[in-house]
Amino acid sequence: MVKNIELNNGVMIPQIGFGTYKSTDSDGYGVISDALRAGYRHLDTAALYKNEEDVGRAIMECNIPREELFITSKLARYSLGYENAKREFDITMKKLGLKYLDMYLIHWPRPDYGDPEFDDWKRLDIDTWRAFEELYEEGRIRAIGVSNFLVHHLENLLEHAKVVPAVNQLELHPGYLQEDTVTFCEDNNIALEAWSPIGRARLLHDPLLNRIAEKYEVSVAEICLSFDIQSGFIILPKSTHVERMKENLAVGQVILEDEDMELIRLMPQTGWSGEHPDRERVAI
Ligand code: A2P
Repeated sequence: MVKNIELNNGVMIPQIGFGTYKSTDSDGYGVISDALRAGYRHLDTAALYKNEEDVGRAIMECNIPREELFITSKLARYSLGYENAKREFDITMKKLGLKYLDMYLIHWPRPDYGDPEFDDWKRLDIDTWRAFEELYEEGRIRAIGVSNFLVHHLENLLEHAKVVPAVNQLELHPGYLQEDTVTFCEDNNIALEAWSPIGRARLLHDPLLNRIAEKYEVSVAEICLSFDIQSGFIILPKSTHVERMKENLAVGQVILEDEDMELIRLMPQTGWSGEHPDRERVAI
């Protein structure tokens, strides 16, 4: 049974959601329908993933009451700004075929490196957030938040925000824990969501995680996900295989001892995707 977490505005969110980036490249509708059948009730999509129509179709055809689902989408980094946000939100809702959205996030705090507006991120974020706040106040979104925001991006936003973001969705997994940003979010009552919680499968070969997995007699993926869950994060694992979808949804049965949590916390940086909000993608 997936636990619910209460966001800072009282909205409840399932702690495990299905990540749809890349997992939907070949058969989006099929993969999302499988995830819903496997038991996922929280789906994480984005304009950038180009699968919102597949998500919408899978929702429409799954016969699960709307209120049992938690659907998140994100505004792409190339669409920041007040007018753009309003327009793109309408496009997203049309593609999803929904009357309301559970959560809408600013996907990245800055346009792409090389974009003429790259340096104007402070103004763009504030203007975008104003549009988000209006959509939230109109009741079209139940919670608004951000993704890939580091401390300086959050400080800029909070200086002008009426509504504190409900979440910050970051790359978070053993070997990439972004402690400064995590602590800042915890101090400001912003829930943390973990994308790539198993480090795009690179972590599956890590010797320490393999040793710990042997000790608890579970898979390395389960160790990574359990670590994130025990850290209080909302996790967004993704898989194209039904068995793995189910395995990832069932985590939480193994409780890692404090000493193993500490060993994982102290392990060297590893498995990073190479994506950073303020820089060109780093080749790794
Ligand atoms: P697959 O789609 O073949 O299952 P992340 O969410 O950290 O970015 O990782 C996604 C990758 O991890 C995908 O390549 C996915 O492959 C793989 N994966 C997801 N869940 C598991 C699991 N329980 N065991 C092994 N590999 C997994």
